[in-house]
Amino acid sequence: MLDFLVFVSLLPVAQNLQGADVVLSCSFIEEGGGMMGGSLFTRTPATLVLRDIVLPSDPSPETITPYNPPEDPKADDLIFEVTVSSVEIPEAESLLHADCNDQEVTCELSQYVPRGTDPDALPAHFIGSVQIEGGGVGLTLVLQTISSEKAESSSPPLTQSKLQLPLSQWGTLLTDVVFVVFSQSPSLAVPIGSDTRLDCGYRRKDTSEEQNLGLEWRWQHRGNGRRVLEMKSPILDTEGGTQAVHVEREEVSVDSNLLIMEGNASLTMKKLNVSDEGTYICTITSGVFQTQQIIQLHIIQPPRVFVSEEKIIFQDSESPQKLSCHSERYYPLDVHVEWTSQTPSESESISLTEKASLSSHRQHSDGTFSLSSFLFIHPSEHPPGTIITCRVSHFALKTPSDVSVTIEAPKPASNYYWVVGTTLVLSLVFLYQALR
Ligand SMILES: *[C@@H]1O[C@H](CO)[C@@H](O)[C@H](O)[C@H]1NC(C)=O
Repeated sequence: MLDFLVFVSLLPVAQNLQGADVVLSCSFIEEGGGMMGGSLFTRTPATLVLRDIVLPSDPSPETITPYNPPEDPKADDLIFEVTVSSVEIPEAESLLHADCNDQEVTCELSQYVPRGTDPDALPAHFIGSVQIEGGGVGLTLVLQTISSEKAESSSPPLTQSKLQLPLSQWGTLLTDVVFVVFSQSPSLAVPIGSDTRLDCGYRRKDTSEEQNLGLEWRWQHRGNGRRVLEMKSPILDTEGGTQAVHVEREEVSVDSNLLIMEGNASLTMKKLNVSDEGTYICTITSGVFQTQQIIQLHIIQPPRVFVSEEKIIFQDSESPQKLSCHSERYYPLDVHVEWTSQTPSESESISLTEKASLSSHRQHSDGTFSLSSFLFIHPSEHPPGTIITCRVSHFALKTPSDVSVTIEAPKPASNYYWVVGTTLVLSLVFLYQALR
């Protein structure tokens, strides 16, 4: 009975498993070909077609537009068609959605020579780098050409003019994905002091080759670089424990079981600080294949914003008061400070930013910065009830941070004592002068 129920509930899911085609506009990149002093690389428009991507859920019919090969195939066409995939293409669904949602997708293809192989040997290999802009997935695919069966056809198949490789009857270069390195989050922003995981994974054709697995995480930033962690096969030692060959930052780790069993090479980093910021390169070696995925790590820390005074009470009708707005311990460096005043009688606020002055940036030992902005408030320009606002905008703040102070009317009592006091002093001075 239970079995039966399970079967019934699984059935609709199974029916939903439909294939869809993803068509990406790419550039085929070749070294050389540039003029003297020109570019070292040439780019040729190309197309990458991923056929029959299996969607785990909700393939609404309008998202499924099958790929139609060109009606009149030409030898100049550069269409890489992935008909079969020996490995599951991770996150392929998000590629399809990006395709539909008009998200920017960068796709670059180039020739690839597996390690220790003859560049001219067949099958030929290509590498495809696909990145969805704005925080989407990043994939690096190794494509291997499939020699198309000599179809019984009157017209001989075309040969691709640039690559000198036979094309399918419908004018595409048939390929198989044999190795993939990917990241579900190629760019991330993390606050100081927190822990994070840099996501990287791989899929490969032949999983029996455990002996040939290697992983390296490198860090690069502003011309500096270092190896963060390296694991080489055999990753498991004889006791079944794990062995990381190199770890060059404290508190980083890769779970070697996940690496081997699930193709998950994610790097866990604890207690991030400003010096961890940079580009991380996850390089995975599997047999003759070696490829990479890049992950950008940004460190962010929102400023703590406060002003020097809680309220402003002018001493007299002449002397201006200095107001300071402090932004403390933020990262990265760029911060924007604006001042406005809002008088009770007017609906529009007035910008005072031009009248303010800035301190220089101060850098703390943890790499964060502080900055102050100063403004002189004149009694004649700002009647009681005016609200002065300091607004700080920073990359780490979702919305700008506002801090306000109100100009208050002088207290009559203190005014009275002040008048009395002054009169008294003046009278005493007068008296003293008179009696001399
Ligand atoms: C790696 O494992 C973590 C933790 O289970 C998971 O959140 C992440 O999505 C995995 N990444 C890849 C690339 O498999």
